[in-house]
Amino acid sequence: MASQLILGIESSCDECSASVVEHSTDVNAFVPVKVLSTSTFSQIQIHQPYGGVVPEIASRNHLETINHMIDRALKESGKTMAQIHAIAVTNRPGLVGALLVGVAAAKALAYAFNKPLVPVHHLEGHAASIFLDQPQEQLGAMKYPMLIAIVSGGHTNLYVAKTGPELWPKDFLKASLVGRSRDDAAGEAFDKTAKILGFPYPGGAHLDRVAREQNGNPAAFDFPRALPQKTILDFSFSGLKTSVSLAVQKLQAAGTLEARLGDVCASIQEAIVDALLAKITLAIASHRCQSLAIVGGVAANSRLRAKLADLKQPVFFPQLKYCTDNAAMIALAGSYRFGQGAALKPLDALNLNAIPNPEI
Ligand code: KG4
Ligand code: ZN
Repeated sequence: MASQLILGIESSCDECSASVVEHSTDVNAFVPVKVLSTSTFSQIQIHQPYGGVVPEIASRNHLETINHMIDRALKESGKTMAQIHAIAVTNRPGLVGALLVGVAAAKALAYAFNKPLVPVHHLEGHAASIFLDQPQEQLGAMKYPMLIAIVSGGHTNLYVAKTGPELWPKDFLKASLVGRSRDDAAGEAFDKTAKILGFPYPGGAHLDRVAREQNGNPAAFDFPRALPQKTILDFSFSGLKTSVSLAVQKLQAAGTLEARLGDVCASIQEAIVDALLAKITLAIASHRCQSLAIVGGVAANSRLRAKLADLKQPVFFPQLKYCTDNAAMIALAGSYRFGQGAALKPLDALNLNAIPNPEI
């Protein structure tokens, strides 16, 4: 098979997404992994009034949208179900009710069209996002071992990939984890501190924008950088909230919060970015990594990107549209696993379950 067509389905949190990806095994292909279509409905506006994702609302909304996403992804790709070689679906980790909607849709399609079904770990999807729609030349520049930093709303994990994704072992995430957040994720730290400042959920991008637009001073406030020890590759962001909250109360009492908003945003952002960079550079040095990939929503942060430009090793980002949750990354992670023979036969797939919180 010179190329395989994979239908990906993602519904683990507040994005409902379907995608068709063409994965070529031809070494001369200019772009070996082509995203033919991605159809995503983001529920952000639905959850915004509540200041965070409401699980029950998320699953109900997935139920209403998932068939439309799948139909649209297939239509836009110009492919039919008959042409699809396998279906890939996120079955772990995530909100259990939300995951179940995607898993049930994938099972039904696999059974009805007699297609193999590949269960995908959501974080393996994020890790794979770096390879989507990249020219062969760029893929060739990715040297191993590669440090993969997943920085999202739910996770801040560092992995050392010894090889390219085709050879990732079955327990890749478990075997390659070298550092993780002990409490809040980096995106969560952005969102919770942004909430203290009154920004709508999710506040990470707002904080980034205000710091930039108001030319905020990143050294104006000395917010904490936890776990400074050079022997620890883990992160901790939970202390930041208290510190920010106290500073904001003082500014409010003095009536100067509005005038200093740019400085506060820039200083919060600097504390999170510094903490990320400290452990990333430490992990690169201690595991002798030859390149770095940054994936997940926080990879969109402009300050993080600017500061990474000074790194000696080459740095790779997914295209912006693949930073946040999407089904294209799930399709690709599924395609690698399909290539390794990890697909379930349609009848066996009927037993597949959603797992809210696996070990990793
Ligand atoms: O990867 P993602 O969709 O979340 C999970 O899968 O968990 O990323 C969403 C996270 C949110 O916390 C959001 O605030 C953050 O990424 N984010 C940003 C920026 N854009 C998105 N954080 C900082 N700066 C940004 N520009
Ligand atoms: Zn995610």
